[in-house]
Amino acid sequence: MSPAGPPNGRLAIFPGSFDPLTNGHVDIVLRSTQLFERVLIAVLVNQDKQPLFNATERATIIREVFREYPNVEVDTFEGLLVDYARQRRASAIVRGLRAVSDFEYEFQMALMNRHLEPTLETVFMMPAEQYTYLSSRLIKEVFRLGGEVRGLVPPVVEDWMRKKQKT
Ligand code: PNS
Repeated sequence: MSPAGPPNGRLAIFPGSFDPLTNGHVDIVLRSTQLFERVLIAVLVNQDKQPLFNATERATIIREVFREYPNVEVDTFEGLLVDYARQRRASAIVRGLRAVSDFEYEFQMALMNRHLEPTLETVFMMPAEQYTYLSSRLIKEVFRLGGEVRGLVPPVVEDWMRKKQKT
């Protein structure tokens, strides 16, 4: 049992960098709300030297995207995910699996997280097929090179990307 007491079985954490949030992420969040009463999107304050958006901006954008979903919460976190999950008394980590190529990294992370906190389960979800090729890295590259990202990210994200481009 974790020091913070029994986990809240209805809370799932969906952690990630979300730089930026894609429609693939949105798909996974919406699927998660079918399984869990509350979903907490946890934005990693990461060490990436040149993020498109800082963690506060990413959290603000994601809050805007899910503003009509009272069961979806957004927060930032630093340090170990399992420590944050323990603090929030979550019982599950949700991660999206797009392709076999994601598997090895995700498998390693899931088992390491289980080693660190055996009561925390990782649940993998598959996004809709049309999002299996989507990644934040590719979105940034396509956008930077003048490509169209409409339909790949929520309109709110696209607006923020355009604003960012002008600054
Ligand atoms: O979307 P990403 O960048 O693939 O998400 C990776 C993330 C945030 C889930 C992972 O890097 C993470 O949990 N970082 C927090 C530090 C940590 O707990 N590391 C050990 C993971 S086994």
